[in-house]
Amino acid sequence: MKNFVSLRIITLVLAAGYMLKTTSADADVTFLGVAAGDATTNDAIVWTRAKDETNPQPTAINVQISQDPLFITGVTTLPAGTAGSPTDFTVKSDLGGLEPGTIYYYRFQTTNASVTSNVGKFKTAPNPTANAPVHFAVSGDCDGLIRPYALASQVPAKNLDFFMFDGDTEYETSASIGSPAVHSTGNIPDPTVIIPTATQSQLFDDFSRKYRQQFVPVNVGGQNCLQPFFAGQGNYTAYDNHELGNKQYINGGAPAGGGVGSTTGSPPFDFLTGAGADARDPANDVTPNDGSVPFMNKSGGFQTLQQVFENYQPISERGLINAPSDPRTNDTRQLYFAQQWGRNAIFINTDCRSYRDIRMKTAANADETGSRADNPDRTMLGATQLAWLEQTLLDAEQAGTTWKFINISDPIDQIGPIGGSLTLVNPPTTADYGTLGAITSIVTTGSTNNARTITVASTVGLVAGQGVFGAGVPANTTINAINTDGTTFSINNNATIASGATLTLTPAPSTYAPVNSDGGKSWMGGYRAERNELLKFIADHRVHNVVFLATDDHQNRINELFYSPTGQTGVQASYVKVPYCFEIVCGPLGATGPDLISNHSFALVKKLADSIANAQIAENLEPIGLAGYHGLQNVRRSGDPHADRLRQPADFYSPDTFNYNVLDVSADGKTLTVTSYGINSTVQNGFVEYDPVNNPEQELFSFQIKRHP
Ligand SMILES: [Fe+2]
Repeated sequence: MKNFVSLRIITLVLAAGYMLKTTSADADVTFLGVAAGDATTNDAIVWTRAKDETNPQPTAINVQISQDPLFITGVTTLPAGTAGSPTDFTVKSDLGGLEPGTIYYYRFQTTNASVTSNVGKFKTAPNPTANAPVHFAVSGDCDGLIRPYALASQVPAKNLDFFMFDGDTEYETSASIGSPAVHSTGNIPDPTVIIPTATQSQLFDDFSRKYRQQFVPVNVGGQNCLQPFFAGQGNYTAYDNHELGNKQYINGGAPAGGGVGSTTGSPPFDFLTGAGADARDPANDVTPNDGSVPFMNKSGGFQTLQQVFENYQPISERGLINAPSDPRTNDTRQLYFAQQWGRNAIFINTDCRSYRDIRMKTAANADETGSRADNPDRTMLGATQLAWLEQTLLDAEQAGTTWKFINISDPIDQIGPIGGSLTLVNPPTTADYGTLGAITSIVTTGSTNNARTITVASTVGLVAGQGVFGAGVPANTTINAINTDGTTFSINNNATIASGATLTLTPAPSTYAPVNSDGGKSWMGGYRAERNELLKFIADHRVHNVVFLATDDHQNRINELFYSPTGQTGVQASYVKVPYCFEIVCGPLGATGPDLISNHSFALVKKLADSIANAQIAENLEPIGLAGYHGLQNVRRSGDPHADRLRQPADFYSPDTFNYNVLDVSADGKTLTVTSYGINSTVQNGFVEYDPVNNPEQELFSFQIKRHP
């Protein structure tokens, strides 16, 4: 290996003062994990966190890189930067001068080599002229309720070129044992409601904690959550609503509104803007792009959360965008980019959060997906990014790049009628989904005196909704919620229970709710005009072999895309198919939704998929799946031996699993193979480790597409 690996230290300039104060206490530093990302043909970002938890101080860190996984030969050691409090002790380095299409191993060390991190691996992109196969995966959605993310432990073995970690990479919410919620970041829909909102330090500390917890085990000796996943390959990364607090900060292009960030809810506020706007008011549907109204993406709270996200993800520092004619985008941090992967594929990562208009609400605070969503001025991407995306697609098509993979954080397909919901046809019953909760009895470790809190040794594995029976427990008592302390849960009735009492528990009924509409944060539900413009551009310019990659709906579905050539986005009859273009919606890697289904039979999946597809057909909508898609071949589905003949909706659908999809482009670019891998879901707060015997990773479904032409 040419030993001129160069390094562009990208740790925060303001950390400069720290560099000089490194001390010899390196020996107590611990490395949280390693990650790599944003690989190009000759550079990549490597990341770690290094901190002496007992005596935190700025610490100089080195990075070692080699093509030898054992670091015996061809090892280059470089200063990686200084781990300090401004970045919560995370360090990122940009390794340059690398060989194209090459696998590298890297690790971090204290400068006296007394402490060494785990080893990570990444691959650089092949030269744009190389007829190289491409082997990558996509998924997203990692909610602390499903730690330690058992499925993620299986990803490294796929030896991927890269993994698209597509949004909701942590969840700010609560009810996760050992991981209480963050401080509220605002109020939806009405920002004028006075509530305590997170201060700058609370935002920084709370969300840094949530990202850190994605690297630590929940069971003694158990999986370090996502640590092996991050070390296993290089990632490309996108954020979504949960990285931005899932309240007002989620709409980067919405009006910033007034002051926010105060433990009392009243002034003084940490931030002059960021409270947001009232989503029920149509006047806020489109933020004027003339600089007259400050955008959320310029508010201190939004930028703090964006910075914490970037502190904890191996994302390249692309600087600020210069777009003076587009105030919505001007002077914002560029997170979108495109990367060619050999001759036959281009990977495009969009930013669907920093520029989007507000998520609209009805007067009743439900998602507004009716005619307001057809407003031609509403944007998801912002003018600058949309133009960049269209030009990138056109350039790729004209350059003869066959496959265009476009990552978006919210689905762009259509599930339900415009502005409405499907009425499922013969849907599964509650019983069909199965029951939840394997624990059938538990002993109290404290008394409950006419109250609703029960104390036990551990609440791991208990499920809200389970029936509770025993001396002193009224009839019809069920578990209400599992507290984050890990030893108490609440019930829906007052009870008087002695310490040491044995309670009998019955399984909880499923509360699974199928995805039967296009929600307000999806393209079809909230941003139909821009959605249509993008799809029309693809159709009109004959940009072929386009594959959209999305997550967020916490299910795996494959779907074709329809648009209105006449721009009548509110008129279903005007919609036609976008040729040679489809979408993969996948995940979650580990989040809620699938956990509410414990019947993992193909029969259940088929019943649910058919109930959705038949409802879609009744609404003159294209049913889920790829039946009839040009170039489709070799369809396989676990549980359906006739998948390649039937090509039924269930053959392209998995609602009851944690999953990720692997995409393989053949070296000659002629064939794309999509394979869905997953495990059966497990209950929230179950802390279920990977079980290769009873719940091994399996191939859920797969298919191939021959390129056009
Ligand atoms: Fe999610």
